[in-house]
Amino acid sequence: MEFTEVIRRRRSIRAYKPDPVAKEMIEQVLEAARQAPSWKNLQCWRFIVVTERERRETVAQAFSPTNPGVKALLEAPHIVVLCANPGESEVWEGKDFYMLDAGLAMEHLILAATDLGLATCWQGLFHEDKVKKALGIPPEIRVPALTPLGYPNQERNPRPRKSLEEIAFREIWAGPWQG
Ligand SMILES: Cc1cc2nc3c(=O)[nH]c(=O)nc-3n(C[C@H](O)[C@H](O)[C@H](O)COP(=O)(O)O)c2cc1C
Repeated sequence: MEFTEVIRRRRSIRAYKPDPVAKEMIEQVLEAARQAPSWKNLQCWRFIVVTERERRETVAQAFSPTNPGVKALLEAPHIVVLCANPGESEVWEGKDFYMLDAGLAMEHLILAATDLGLATCWQGLFHEDKVKKALGIPPEIRVPALTPLGYPNQERNPRPRKSLEEIAFREIWAGPWQG
């Protein structure tokens, strides 16, 4: 798929078919994550691919039932859990670069999944401690996000976005983009 088409097609998908994803495809999306840039190339990220139904149920229990994405964690055949070691990144003037590093790797993974016709949905609203306990994640490791991974079972229209004028400035803060 053309890169711009991948960007255009990606959606947060919350309904999945039960069909498993081939190991080679999972490795392809992990490989895309592996290529992401990071602070001093320290690559603070780790990924856990959770497939066993019981374990996915335990992960889902770390979510509020009102989270619109929770159903997807049980429907999709896999959950990819994004982990990050803050010790393999830096805090600079209060900015936690591990969150950026990990987020970049996750978005690489998500775009690669889109390219392969797979679906994902960023999930950030969960009790981190419960996910860590369920998966044996060490205390020093953070879990910024996770995503279901599988074949989509819904078509979604694009969600609205702010206009270019609202998000892009010329030269200085609020410098009008046009004119
Ligand atoms: C950091 C982050 C956390 C998110 N957490 C959740 C979540 O907990 N549950 C959920 O259903 N969607 C979650 N989303 C998905 C957003 O709601 C979604 O990206 C946004 O509405 C735009 O829709 P789109 O991804 O289809 O373009 C999250 C997205 C990001 C980037």
